[in-house]
Amino acid sequence: MKTVLYMGMSVNGFIAKKDGNSQWTSEEDLKGFFEHSKSAGNIIMGKNTYLEALRYGYFPFPEALNIIVSHEPIKNTWNDRVLTTDKPPQEILRLLEARGFTTAFLAGGGQLNRSFIKEKLIDEIYIDVEPFVFGQGIPIFAEGDFAVDLELLEVKKINIHTIQLHYQVLK
Ligand SMILES: NC(=O)c1ccc[n+]([C@@H]2O[C@H](COP(=O)([O-])OP(=O)(O)OC[C@H]3O[C@@H](n4cnc5c(N)ncnc54)[C@H](OP(=O)(O)O)[C@@H]3O)[C@@H](O)[C@H]2O)c1
Repeated sequence: MKTVLYMGMSVNGFIAKKDGNSQWTSEEDLKGFFEHSKSAGNIIMGKNTYLEALRYGYFPFPEALNIIVSHEPIKNTWNDRVLTTDKPPQEILRLLEARGFTTAFLAGGGQLNRSFIKEKLIDEIYIDVEPFVFGQGIPIFAEGDFAVDLELLEVKKINIHTIQLHYQVLK
């Protein structure tokens, strides 16, 4: 089982403004995000990311099992397309494996990303670096006690102002 993280990020490391808005990432970033969730067939997100996606009409993401991680119960009105869980990352991956998935697509936000990176459960990271700097926001990984080394696999220019970084997490 491989876990892939895909994030659109400001030059100074934020994935959303302070109010949670991430509508400033490029069309190409959004397209990449949808392609990865479709190709994995699943998408794992924290509660705040789910709420933001719902607000902007992206939820549930198409052609994928949507997994929302929260300690609180969330009313599921989408039946089989959505699964809500309070399980730790390792168990979520086991659950996906048991359903026959070979790739898990981790879709943020910063708090959920921290839970996965702390357990060394991320294998690949894609970051679309968008041409913005802002003073306050939500970081790609919430603060925590972790450190991982990465190997750069590829750098791609996905539009005139946006660079995509693709990393392997060294374990
Ligand atoms: N630019 C991008 O590519 C991109 C992508 C995704 C998201 N975003 C942005 O990221 C922002 C959200 O990030 P965030 O860091 O605030 O929140 P988040 O990680 O999306 O959600 C945090 C919440 O999810 C639950 N959660 C997270 N980890 C958990 C764990 N290990 N076990 C159980 N529950 C867990 C908790 O909910 P409970 O409190 O209910 O337990 C927690 O309060 C949104 O504004 C979104 O727009 C940006």
